[in-house]
Amino acid sequence: MKLTVDISGQTQVYGIFGYPVKHSKSPQFQTSAFSFYDIPAVYLPFEVKPEDLKTAVEAIKALGIKGINVTVPHKEHILEYLNELSEEVLYIGACNTVKNIDGYLIGYNTDAYGFIKGLKELEPNLEGKNVLILGAGGASRAVVYGLIKEGVNKIYQANRTIEKVFKIREDFFKLTKFAEEIIIPIPYEKIECCVLDSVDIIVNTTSVGLRDDDQPLFNYEAISSRHTVVDIIYKKTPLLEVADKKGCKWQDGLPMLLYQGAKAFEIWTGKDAPIEVMRKALLS
Ligand code: ATR
Repeated sequence: MKLTVDISGQTQVYGIFGYPVKHSKSPQFQTSAFSFYDIPAVYLPFEVKPEDLKTAVEAIKALGIKGINVTVPHKEHILEYLNELSEEVLYIGACNTVKNIDGYLIGYNTDAYGFIKGLKELEPNLEGKNVLILGAGGASRAVVYGLIKEGVNKIYQANRTIEKVFKIREDFFKLTKFAEEIIIPIPYEKIECCVLDSVDIIVNTTSVGLRDDDQPLFNYEAISSRHTVVDIIYKKTPLLEVADKKGCKWQDGLPMLLYQGAKAFEIWTGKDAPIEVMRKALLS
């Protein structure tokens, strides 16, 4: 999709901080949204080295950059440089969207919103559902936050380093006093025997599946058609291949990417995100 922007002295600047950032799809689909509304803005990729993050955040103020998305590896570290943090950021411990209001930087996290909005395309009602989450890294915390807010019944969370699940449970105690009953740490070896039958939704938040030679996290063949399967990686991973073969409802990471970006656009501009325009730009 070819996008044209009229550059002038009024052009506003938005962008994304990441390291690396070359692979990011955000410049294209955010620009499509600005173009849709004829907002005179550009959205640029900024490759920011970890040691330069503080300077880069100061530059947001100095250069009058209107808004920034934040991706790996800066999502957690950027918190200390911002003026205000949203409730989501405080619970999740990571920020993916910054709004600059005359030099006052507010950090938001739209990943939880993006994940839930995408998942609801498959499962409109999440209340009372039982969910299996694979992984307990930064991305999983947004997923856990979103699911708790939606009133799920149980979250079985598996991770190689199981201590991270206990830490998440401890951190989310501030959000719900039922965190200990909702979040159940589970080793990967116990998934097939003891958890799979009682869950409705399976979510992979690990990087496993990105490379073709990755070992599966558990026996994916044990999945049945009644499971809804989401992988937040932006491609049809081996987990999703099995889900498709078994006749499950399934989704890769693109809806989450789309909706987190749409929410960021709304935070920056106050306008409804043109979802179909953004989806088309993302897929092109
Ligand atoms: P992100 O911000 O994308 O969540 P992260 O915080 O580095 O990235 O988390 C990566 C997740 O993938 C973790 O759950 C990690 O498991 P550990 O906490 O045990 O390291 C998981 N992961 C990465 N490679 C893995 C592998 N080969 N097998 C199992 N889990 C893996």
